[in-house]
Amino acid sequence: MIFVVFVVANGFFTTKITKDTKRRNKNLLTVQVINSVSDMQALSERIRLAGQTIALVPTMGFFHDGHLALMRAAKELADTVVVSLFVNPTQFAEGEDLEAYPRDLQGDLAKAGSAGTDYVFAPTAEDIYPEGFQTLVRVDQLTRRLCGPLRPGHFEGVTTIVAKLFNITKPHVAVFGQKDFQQLTVISRMVRDLNMDLRIVGVPTVREPDGLAMSSRNTYLSPEERKAALCLSRSLALAQEMVDAGERNAAVIRAAVEEHIRRAPFTKIDYVSLCHPATLEELEAVEEETLLALAVFVGKARLIDNRLLRFEAP
Ligand code: PAJ
Repeated sequence: MIFVVFVVANGFFTTKITKDTKRRNKNLLTVQVINSVSDMQALSERIRLAGQTIALVPTMGFFHDGHLALMRAAKELADTVVVSLFVNPTQFAEGEDLEAYPRDLQGDLAKAGSAGTDYVFAPTAEDIYPEGFQTLVRVDQLTRRLCGPLRPGHFEGVTTIVAKLFNITKPHVAVFGQKDFQQLTVISRMVRDLNMDLRIVGVPTVREPDGLAMSSRNTYLSPEERKAALCLSRSLALAQEMVDAGERNAAVIRAAVEEHIRRAPFTKIDYVSLCHPATLEELEAVEEETLLALAVFVGKARLIDNRLLRFEAP
């Protein structure tokens, strides 16, 4: 049995070198927390030198089953799963919910451990953005669509932190949710455009039994708003029913979706878009595979959801 012992800011921890060792020590498996950027870089380097692969799951914490599905998928893709937990201030626009964003580090560590995570990388904002920081990663056209114009600076914040997380954790593969479809598309583009040497994997949206897409922001909903929020997933289903019934006009489907959402109380539509899933460009007619993406305020919670509308080509 081989153990390598590292010293980190918050104490001693052991890194399990082989999968066999991990299995034998199943009962001892607890998630290890790394707080400093340099410790994380050194650890990732060591894992790579030991010939093992790394899967990264970037998150902002307050885990629900959607996050845990990403961690489980990551476990299937690599020897070691690193989850980053960082509420990234630069991706919140002025007036958004940075301060209110829910946090529960202890709960998150227990959940991450139960989903097979080996390490949680939870850096401080000072370590990530030290004084003098002035570099941004920007993906151009894709970020001018959907959420882009409504959340100025958001995607630059996302691509910059994700690029940094890749440099810090050195993953072979990184896992993202299809719930944030535009984010997944933008990050995939960044990886291709900048020749980043890793694979991006998307995981389907995890939903509550009644269809609501899981989100850390669902905690903002009152019981009445929670009921009203079902209009998002229901309107996605309605759109697929229209496609199944032969409707191909995007404007007609969009109008029906908007009407359905407006009928629910507490709602304010940010956008309803039928677009090409690769370019995110608006479509006039539904194609074999069309992305229907929504952003809707329910009370003060801004919720997003999406679905790929499909029809069999004749
Ligand atoms: P966060 O909102 O915490 O989401 C972390 C990951 O979980 C993202 O890839 C997101 O798409 C995925 N996710 C969220 N809800 C999901 C659901 N219901 N089903 C499946 N996956 C789901 O997205 C971010 O954080 C940040 O922008 C981040 C990428 C970490 C950069 O700061």
